[in-house]
Amino acid sequence: MKNTLNSLMAGLAISLAASSAAFADGEVNIYSYRQPELIKPLLDEFTSETGIATNVIFLDKGLAERIKVEGRNSPADIILTADIGNLQTAVDEGVVQNVDDEFINEHIPAQYRDPQGAWFALTTRGRVVYASKDRVEQDSITYEELADPKWKGRICIRDGQHQYNIALIASMIANHGEDFTREWLTGLKNNLARKPAGNDRAQAKSIYSGECDIGIGNTYYVGLMMTNEKDPEQKDWAAAIKVLFPNSDGRGTHVNISGMAMAKNAPNRENALKFMEFLASPKAQELYADAVFEYPVAPGSKPSEIVAGFGEIHPDTLPLAEIAKYRKRASELVDETRFNDGASG
Ligand SMILES: [Fe+2]
Repeated sequence: MKNTLNSLMAGLAISLAASSAAFADGEVNIYSYRQPELIKPLLDEFTSETGIATNVIFLDKGLAERIKVEGRNSPADIILTADIGNLQTAVDEGVVQNVDDEFINEHIPAQYRDPQGAWFALTTRGRVVYASKDRVEQDSITYEELADPKWKGRICIRDGQHQYNIALIASMIANHGEDFTREWLTGLKNNLARKPAGNDRAQAKSIYSGECDIGIGNTYYVGLMMTNEKDPEQKDWAAAIKVLFPNSDGRGTHVNISGMAMAKNAPNRENALKFMEFLASPKAQELYADAVFEYPVAPGSKPSEIVAGFGEIHPDTLPLAEIAKYRKRASELVDETRFNDGASG
C-alpha cells in the first residue's frame, strides 16, 4: 500500500511539474528509457527545425506503469524506449494510441512497426555471437548450432530471463516452434561455461579472461566497449572478440529494436506527431543510430563507420510483432529447462 501511494505521489508530482509546461504552445513531452545525453543531439535538431521545445522525463523503470497511474491527465506525449518488450508492455498497459501516418509508414519498414501503429522502431540492434579471436576459428555461425555439443563448456550468456534473451528465444519459437526451441535451449544450457550472469559486456570480458570462447550479446555494446574512455579496460574486451552475425546465410540474424509510441492521452498530439515524423526521417534515424551504435531502419540508410566495421548484418525478416507474441512462452521455457542453473554436469 505504502509503495503504491509513494509511486502515485511521485507520479502526481511529475504530472504537476510537466503539465504546467504542457499548457504552453509548441512543446512535446517525452517519457524516455533512453539516456538523456544520447537523445539530446536529436532533440536539439528537432527544436531548431520546428521551434517546438522538448521536455524529457528520463526513467529507468516503470515507464508504462507511471503513465497509467497519471491517467487522463498524464503529460506524456511520446514514449521512447529500447526493446520490443518495453513497447509491448506499454501496449499491454493501455497507455499508447495507434498512429497511422503516411510519412512514418514510408520510412519504417512494416516488419519494424506494429500492424496497428501502436509502436514504431527507429533503430535495430543485432543479438549476435561474440567469439574469441584466438580460440574460435570459424567466421560464421547459426543460433541453432549453439546447442551443438562441440561448444560444451565454452559458451557464456547473461540471465535467460533478461528481455534481450527472451526476444531471441521468442524468435526461435517463431521460426522453429516450441518443441524445437525447448530442445535447443537445453542444448545451449548444457554448453554453458558457467551459470548465466552479468550483462552483455561481461560476456566479452569472460572471453577476454579465457573463461569462455563464445558469448551472446548485442551489437551496440561492441561499439560502446571499443570507444570507452572512462573504462579503457573494455577496449581490451572488445579487441578479444570478433562479431559473428548468426544465420547470415539463412533466415538472418535476430534483431531487437529501439522505438517510439504515442501516449494514449497525449496533450500535445499534433506536436507529438511532428516529433514522430522527425524521428522517422532517415536523417534523424542515422543521427540516433550513430549516437547509440545501432542500425537505422529507414530503407537505404547506413550505420556509423564503427558499426559497419563489425560486418554486414542481414536481419531476420520475421516481423517483430510476430516474434513478440512468443515472449511469454519463451520466459516459461527458460524456467522449464532451468536454463539459469547452467550446465547440469
Ligand atoms: Fe542494452
